[in-house]
Amino acid sequence: MSTLATTLKRGLAVGAVALAAVSLQPAGASASPTPVVGGTRAAQGEFPFMVRLSMGCGGALYTQQIVLTAAHCVNGSGNNTSITATAGVVDLQSSSAIKVKSTKVLQAPGYNGQGKDWALIKLAKPINLPTLKIADTKAYDSGTFTVAGWGAAREGGAQQRYLLKATVPFVSDAACQAAYGDSLVPSDEICAGYDQGGTDTCQGDSGGPMFRRDDTNAWIQVGIVSWGEGCARAGYPGVYSEVSTFAADIRNAAAGL
Ligand code: ARG
Repeated sequence: MSTLATTLKRGLAVGAVALAAVSLQPAGASASPTPVVGGTRAAQGEFPFMVRLSMGCGGALYTQQIVLTAAHCVNGSGNNTSITATAGVVDLQSSSAIKVKSTKVLQAPGYNGQGKDWALIKLAKPINLPTLKIADTKAYDSGTFTVAGWGAAREGGAQQRYLLKATVPFVSDAACQAAYGDSLVPSDEICAGYDQGGTDTCQGDSGGPMFRRDDTNAWIQVGIVSWGEGCARAGYPGVYSEVSTFAADIRNAAAGL
């Protein structure tokens, strides 16, 4: 993070000079390329449960045949063969990518654009890769989280070919509400990010997991990438669906899919 913050500050300083001369240059256009915002490349196999969805979202293998993603990434519930899940690779263009079509989608019941931002996608066949377990208590809703995705590496930036990862600290509901007011649903959202910004998920990371190590040192999913004001802005943490709130609903929905 400190490396990234330094890089961004340097980038912004250069940008400020450039802006003085070329006032229409988009913010961040001159920032040095940093290999999510402020992330670095994930190693092949590091997060084997990561899935890229063809509508431009992320997801995680909840079971080998069910992907957990965000409700805002799908259009509703029912039979749906239009989505392709790509797994098993950090490089989306790799010839070893595993690609499987969807058969069904289940969008969180009652989803109306605020909160309840989770959905399940059933795949045509199982993918033989490790799954990511979900947190079913609030015990892990604190500390430092890992996020990963193929989304934009800066606000307004392009989708990525290679999976990026970053770590972000937990932000309390009170601090997150101070940023977002009534837009936040504290009972079912969890926030993460640095006060100074610089590291965050961004457009195209939605639906992907936010996770950490549990007491047995296994990865456990505590969040689903949902929304934020821009990306990596100071004072505006990333907002994630709080998986522990929905764990029972997710489990029941998966059992019936
Ligand atoms: N809604 C975005 C998407 O569809 C994710 C935005 C996450 N933003 C953030 N600042 N953490 O990909």
